[in-house]
Amino acid sequence: MARPEPTAAAPDLDARLRMLALEGRLPRHVAIIMDGNGRWAQARSQPREQGHRVGAESVRSITRMARQLGLETLTLYAFSEQNWSRPKTEVEALLSLLVEFLTSELPEMRRTDIRLQAIGNLAKMPLPVRMGLETTMAATRAHRSMTLALCLSYGGREEIVHAARMLARQVAKGELRPDDIDEARFEQQLWTAPLASPPDLIIRTSGEQRLSNFLCWQSAYSEFYFTPVEWPDFREDAFAAALIEYARRERRFGGLGAGAKG
Ligand code: IPE
Ligand code: IPE
Ligand code: MG
Repeated sequence: MARPEPTAAAPDLDARLRMLALEGRLPRHVAIIMDGNGRWAQARSQPREQGHRVGAESVRSITRMARQLGLETLTLYAFSEQNWSRPKTEVEALLSLLVEFLTSELPEMRRTDIRLQAIGNLAKMPLPVRMGLETTMAATRAHRSMTLALCLSYGGREEIVHAARMLARQVAKGELRPDDIDEARFEQQLWTAPLASPPDLIIRTSGEQRLSNFLCWQSAYSEFYFTPVEWPDFREDAFAAALIEYARRERRFGGLGAGAKG
């Protein structure tokens, strides 16, 4: 693991996190359902778009901290398949913030060796957004220190149906026998195939306790962390608290825990 540099969290949290990183007790892959932007703005009598704008600042600071701590993958749920049903003005505001983010963050991704990976039904994205994503992905393809995965026009059920359809096509063409379909082969057809591992920790902000069609397959053994903090307020200390809680969990994967007696 890369040697962690100091983070911007409070000094005592910072020391604890660095210790956990050195002990290998931090998650390799964190995935976040970034929720609560609209409520954050409405509580301040501001338009929902302003919540998304401040939320983009949280994306910047959490990405920076994840990189400094040596995480392998940070996956962010930025726009769900179902979010297309929101008013056109809100969808447009979200997509233009995304394009702005890609442009403004490319120098930082270059400097800190971050690879960008978009995940989802990208064909649905308007052309300028798709071009922005493709350009940034191409420019960062060889970067290895961390992968920043953005789930866009993403739905976990849609992803599973898509994978089934791809395998069915291979079977129909005689390239694959049904008995050769196993978990590994199925995973190769998921949109998350370019990621090194499934999420160890899934965080959801804003107090909601549901997956909302996020990583249905990949979350089979993830740890979950729910916080009432809304995404625009989710910064270094809130992320540190989630990581410290993760380090306390005991993952058993159906086996017996370390403390079990025979
Ligand atoms: C999360 O905040 C951002 C997206 C889903 C794109 P919301 O926009 O869902 O905010 P709330 O949940 O309405 O407060
Ligand atoms: C999930 O949040 C999608 C993203 C964070 C991008 P939503 O706000 O869309 O989910 P629901 O509607 O509360 O389930
Ligand atoms: Mg929401």
